Amino acid sequence: MVRCFDEIFWEINQGYAVDFLPWLSPFYASHMRNVESWARTIREFIMEHVIKSRAEKLSQKPEDEDDFTDALLRSLSKEENVSENTIIFMLEDFLGGHSAIGNLVYLALGYIAKYPIVGKQIQKEVEQITDGGKKKVTLYDTENMPYTVAAIYEVLRYSSSPIVPHVATENSQIGGYGILKDTIVFINNYDLNTSEKYWENPKEFIPERFLETVSSNKIHKDSSGTARDVVRVKKNIPHFLPFSVGKRTCIGQNLVRCFSFLLLTNILEHFDVSSDYPDLIKMNPACVAVPPETYGLKLTPRT
Ligand code: HEM
Repeated sequence: MVRCFDEIFWEINQGYAVDFLPWLSPFYASHMRNVESWARTIREFIMEHVIKSRAEKLSQKPEDEDDFTDALLRSLSKEENVSENTIIFMLEDFLGGHSAIGNLVYLALGYIAKYPIVGKQIQKEVEQITDGGKKKVTLYDTENMPYTVAAIYEVLRYSSSPIVPHVATENSQIGGYGILKDTIVFINNYDLNTSEKYWENPKEFIPERFLETVSSNKIHKDSSGTARDVVRVKKNIPHFLPFSVGKRTCIGQNLVRCFSFLLLTNILEHFDVSSDYPDLIKMNPACVAVPPETYGLKLTPRT
């Protein structure tokens, strides 16, 4: 199932012309057939291994709800407007969302294999937080691990979707331009993420660009009560919108931020990540997907 999600994720991230010009669809028939076949395999797996066993268990113990899947299945009997198809779509969306996170973290590991200093910096933060392995990294640690968060943002900057299409639901104005209702408006994320107007050396992988040093005693005092400089992740960069903004903003963004942080820190706590052929690791701008068959990485247990 994971492989099928990865195939679909890679396919839909190719940015074909048919995404915006639906009349081209006859020329993409074989692509559509592939997507349908992967989607069918996923559906069969979910019906057989998730829905069937959960539904049986729920009907035996109606008061029990272990997790999100149980809650979705429960709403099937409680809510009139919810159909089985809606439930399965929602479940598939969330399961498929993990493919996005897996791909993002794999990209981050690729950068680490290419630029070992990035991995070393993250491992330094992990060691400080875990006190040399005595405790685990948790989501409460993000503020104290600014470099790690900045490295994830830097991966997102270079790889997130190039364009985000929207439709104006009413007559409006953007930046002084009149926009009529029903006009299609594209957010040009590619330009926002890679233009020299907004970023210094945009083609280079520099997590530090997301960091700032705040020298203020308002923020932090060390144990002796002395004010000291604090490095933190910059907030509200107006041109950095990997998840877009507004009503239709990505609903998975917190899952992405939290899960990729935990995954990356845990992998780097226990392994050094490298490659025998770092020069062959190529990153595609504006593409968060890696092909299902892609560069290999070497994970060496840390002693
Ligand atoms: C690398 C990770 C991800 C990136 C960069 C990303 C980015 C985006 C972007 C740019 C949009 C369009 C927002 C708009 O139209 O204004 C979007 C929409 C959406 N995303 Fe994500 N996403 C990611 C992962 C996820 C995950 C993990 C999930 C679910 C578990 C998810 C669920 C959704 C959904 C349901 C929408 C549609 C929201 C709507 O139209 O109301 N995304 N995402």
